[in-house]
Amino acid sequence: MDATARFAAAATEAEAVFAAAATTDEVEAARIRFLGRSGVEAELQAVFAAAPGPDKRTLGPAFNAAKQAMRSAWETAKARVAAVESDEPIDVTLPPRPRRPGSIHPLSRMAREVESVFSSMGYEVADGPHVELDEHNFGRLNIPADHPARDHQDTFWVTAGSERKLLRTQTSSVQSRTYAEVGAGLLTPPFRRVAVGRVFRNDAIDATHDVTFTQVEGFVVDRGITVAHLVGAIRTMLGAVLKRDDVEVRMRPSYFPFVEPGFEVDIRLSKEPEGSRLARWMELLGCGMIHPKVLEAGSPSLAGWTGFAFGMGLERLAMVRHQITDIRVFNGADLRALRQFA
Ligand code: DAH
Repeated sequence: MDATARFAAAATEAEAVFAAAATTDEVEAARIRFLGRSGVEAELQAVFAAAPGPDKRTLGPAFNAAKQAMRSAWETAKARVAAVESDEPIDVTLPPRPRRPGSIHPLSRMAREVESVFSSMGYEVADGPHVELDEHNFGRLNIPADHPARDHQDTFWVTAGSERKLLRTQTSSVQSRTYAEVGAGLLTPPFRRVAVGRVFRNDAIDATHDVTFTQVEGFVVDRGITVAHLVGAIRTMLGAVLKRDDVEVRMRPSYFPFVEPGFEVDIRLSKEPEGSRLARWMELLGCGMIHPKVLEAGSPSLAGWTGFAFGMGLERLAMVRHQITDIRVFNGADLRALRQFA
């Protein structure tokens, strides 16, 4: 049985066992069996923890659903048995308690949409760790230890065993990891990948900055890739992600150590009323042609290959799409704000 089926089977079984429990003792026995320290839930937790990283994204919801189901079966059984044992009459005429279904966080929804747009363009969805090695976040991306570009991306350092690691400041780290896969003989070009993930910066928080935010990194490595491919990919992707046909794109030369040449991309929405915020140019992403040094840091065999890469803030994108003006909405945990996007 695969892990998803196991999760579902455990939930079904728990529901049956809890439903059949007739006394407090039986409910307690079932609780120990399913939810106890070394019960079924703990077993499933171990299955989930042992699953390879890429599978976790799909297994997570299945695992959570099973957990929820077991817990609610327990709650229901407890209440039923308690009512019977205390001999309290159940007033079946009471109106049911209103349910408040949860909703998907606007950023998660945006992330899924972005991933599906890129999947449809032939990109593989990739992932990388939040706690990262210097070499993947900086070094192999052509940002050596003394490089001033580090000053723009101050972060949080942690000591893990003997290793000093950092909370990644950019999902460009997934590029470095991908090229290292080529070096290890695990991947051969051509390839296209997209990574959506959380990044961290030691920044002052205001309406447009947070200490943690989400980046989308996309990159393509193939023969004969040019800036024209880059521009085409960005136009297509922005139209699809923002669900608009009036996205105007402007590119300005810029500097990022891992690309040459590098650009910054601004957008505006030409159908918005003149003078409105969205009709004005706003900076949305950085991109460029992947620096040969960055490819070769992963593998000498990548010499002669070409590619483009871009990195973009998912919050910024969601703010444009939902007309949100303060980035703190996303991590503020204010349900009144988040429910508006349900
Ligand atoms: N990682 C950059 C940042 O966080 C964004 C970026 C710029 C990513 C250019 C790229 C790129 O892949 O080509 O500021």
